[in-house]
Amino acid sequence: MAKKIGLVGVGWMAAYHVAGYRSAGADVVAIADNNPAAAKAASQKYGVDRIFGEPKELYAAITDLDAVSIITPNAFHYPLVMEALAAGKHVFCEKPPALNAAEVGEMVDAADKAGKTLMFNFNNRARPESYAMREYLRTGAVGRINSAQATWIRRNGIPGFGGWFTTKKLSGGGPVIDLLHMIDLALHFMGYPEPQFVLGQTFSDFIDNKEFKGPWGIPDVEGGVTDVEASAHAFVTFKSGQVLSIRNSWAEMNEREVVSVVFQGQKAGGKIQRLFRVEGVDATCIDSCELYTQENGFPVNRTIIVEADETMGRTRSAKNFALVLEGKEAPLNVAREALTLMKIIDGIYASAKSGRPVEIG
Ligand SMILES: NC(=O)c1ccc[n+]([C@@H]2O[C@H](COP(=O)([O-])OP(=O)(O)OC[C@H]3O[C@@H](n4cnc5c(N)ncnc54)[C@H](O)[C@@H]3O)[C@@H](O)[C@H]2O)c1
Repeated sequence: MAKKIGLVGVGWMAAYHVAGYRSAGADVVAIADNNPAAAKAASQKYGVDRIFGEPKELYAAITDLDAVSIITPNAFHYPLVMEALAAGKHVFCEKPPALNAAEVGEMVDAADKAGKTLMFNFNNRARPESYAMREYLRTGAVGRINSAQATWIRRNGIPGFGGWFTTKKLSGGGPVIDLLHMIDLALHFMGYPEPQFVLGQTFSDFIDNKEFKGPWGIPDVEGGVTDVEASAHAFVTFKSGQVLSIRNSWAEMNEREVVSVVFQGQKAGGKIQRLFRVEGVDATCIDSCELYTQENGFPVNRTIIVEADETMGRTRSAKNFALVLEGKEAPLNVAREALTLMKIIDGIYASAKSGRPVEIG
């Protein structure tokens, strides 16, 4: 029988969850959103007629619900995931997993205790480029990755001023936590090693400058709070001897918006990259997937050709969650990895505050 899935929070990101679940043959049966106008609009858009203000009403009314997506602002991930697990539901939660590692630790323990699947939407793992690169890693073509560079740098990309994105209490922070995807993807390729030290710095230049607002995000909130960073640079060492450099920004004088993981392995190097479309210059975003090897005495650059996916894996990652529930696919992520990721993010903020390296492990 098709799995029954509910959505909690039906703003911008919900469309990808609906498309992914439906492509896996699952049924989206109900919506909960504490903004009645948002709930009503989503009900019409997705053709889902059972709508609720509170998730607990949804769980009480639809007792055979299998799973739920949590797609709310970041601060509500922790309480809503805990509530869903307590109600006996499998959970697919948007990124970031929560505001900090302490919350994620409790979420992971609660999922283990409840015997339920808890996955997070690290959708970049579901990009065609990532599926391809995993094959090269799996077959040993890359060898151990010694070092990697994770980058998500926007030049003018602040997602609105004074709303939940720029209010630390609601978001957990700025681009470090919002654009954590490439940090996760680099760690995923590296085998999620155990971090040891983190050294980081954050900058808040431009965070109040409206010229640096992105063309997406949420409307500005007059008199709202803007207390997060605009950019960050960090370096992480692992107990295994591997190392990771990180650059994330919403607003920084970069050439253009670049999203990439570059790595250096013992047998080959590689890169997955998206150059975001520059209006009036590029027709589309430019995605690439490359491997750098030494063959027959020559340095060789291989281009791996995959299908284009404008959604950056967002639909495919929701499909994966639904197929995991059916036992038809392995999960693209496990909750315990999110704990390691959040320890690194906590470490970047703590190091930026203290001016010192932070020992994690
Ligand atoms: N994976 C990705 O590529 C990606 C992209 C964008 C956003 N996100 C994440 O998705 C989440 C939502 O982002 P968005 O852009 O859709 O936000 P949004 O502001 O467009 O929508 C959030 C929705 O949640 C509702 N909501 C707020 N608190 C709630 C509560 N306690 N209970 C029920 N509903 C509640 C709001 O009314 C709103 O409709 C965030 O965590 C964000 O980081 C992920």
